[in-house]
Amino acid sequence: MKFEEYQAAYQRKTRLSKKLYTRSQHVFAGGINHNIRFFSPYPFFVQKAIKNCLFDVDGNKYTDYWMGHWALILGHSHRAVSSVSSRQAKSGILFGTANTLSVQLAETIQKLMPRAELMRFSSTGSEATMYSVRLARAATGKRVIAKVIGGWHGFNTTLLQTVNYPFEYDESLGLIQEEEQFVESIPFNDLDRSLKILETRKDDLAGIIIEPVLGAGGCIPATRDYLIGLQEFAKKNSSLFILDEIVTGFRISIHGAMSEYNLEPDLFTLGKIIGGGMPVGLVCGSKEIMSLADPILRDQKYKRCSIGGGTFSANPATMSAGLSTLNYLKSNKQTIYTKLNSLGEQLRKRLTRLFNDSKINVKVTGMGSLFMPHFLGRRDNNKDKVDNALDVATANQKLLHMYHISLMARHNIFFLPGKMGCFSDAHNTNDLERLISATEAIVESGVLN
Ligand SMILES: Cc1ncc(COP(=O)(O)O)c(C=O)c1O
Repeated sequence: MKFEEYQAAYQRKTRLSKKLYTRSQHVFAGGINHNIRFFSPYPFFVQKAIKNCLFDVDGNKYTDYWMGHWALILGHSHRAVSSVSSRQAKSGILFGTANTLSVQLAETIQKLMPRAELMRFSSTGSEATMYSVRLARAATGKRVIAKVIGGWHGFNTTLLQTVNYPFEYDESLGLIQEEEQFVESIPFNDLDRSLKILETRKDDLAGIIIEPVLGAGGCIPATRDYLIGLQEFAKKNSSLFILDEIVTGFRISIHGAMSEYNLEPDLFTLGKIIGGGMPVGLVCGSKEIMSLADPILRDQKYKRCSIGGGTFSANPATMSAGLSTLNYLKSNKQTIYTKLNSLGEQLRKRLTRLFNDSKINVKVTGMGSLFMPHFLGRRDNNKDKVDNALDVATANQKLLHMYHISLMARHNIFFLPGKMGCFSDAHNTNDLERLISATEAIVESGVLN
């Protein structure tokens, strides 16, 4: 079967979406509100989402492995969250004042992640990582932030470097060289080369920020040695070690990836899951560092690090959804994390076997409930290596896209094309079996050869 036939099948069943996309192009640049949400020929438009399914405007139902940018660990419209959210909507969505729910949510996080001695909520993860940069600079009096190549920390200006391949090109118009010089990029999972680069900037190095599992960059867990090596370098150099747990926090474990890797970040960021599907970000850290943001202790603006503005920060709608999510995770942690990690593990193994039995060179990476196949094709050197964002970018992205579109077109299974997938508590082994048999059918159709 040819890929064009899959594309035609997609177009036949998404006629209303096509019309909506045309309308959408008249009101949004590119017809979308997040660059990655576009895929060719046009994205389908969702009307509602329940459990592990998306329902589009044409009446199609898809099993969802994108799960709201990996935020929805309990699934869409989970009863424990939606009942509390609708109650909260009746007693106020936005107070714009201090509120009890924010304290309850922060206390819950602090018990599970004790390195969060003090915190500040924001409305997005991008703000949280931006604040972490400002705090690191304020705490150290230094300017340079190191990040890994392929690391994604949201759309804040500072960290918008070396995100997408080719990494040496600017990520965007509108960025200025004077600012870029204060970010240094290091190669993910290559400790020797990273340390050599860090050494050249060490006198002005405010902090190193890293995701424990490279997420948008290709679903690759950092090695423990790499993370520990960076952490040690930062501590020895009086720079801060900042862990971006916006994807991994409450997903890899209820105590975050930091507990799995045994890390001691000076600052860490959370988002996604802690908002229960509502907009959120959180920067957390030691009392000493976070107190730099205390406007009471530091009553003059030149004495403090100003972070955590935002009309919507700590709004009760988000706080109640986040609190219900974390309470549910806490009460069911044994069953949920065992199930999610086992689904992820089984899928990685079975997909790898399936593709390789069919002589399609694929490596499936991931950790816990996160997974992503990489089509390697015929590679001359380091054949099956997928250790960093360059390995991901130079794998066959076109085949991955075709695989994901084929799943959507003929099997009603949704991955955001080209992105990693995840399981939620609303998925089960039947979903896994369906994904495997859909993949078998796609492989048999010959479209991936
Ligand atoms: C690791 C990481 N950090 C930060 C962000 C930015 O979060 P937000 O999209 O909420 O601004 C993301 C978003 O996907 C992310 O994956």
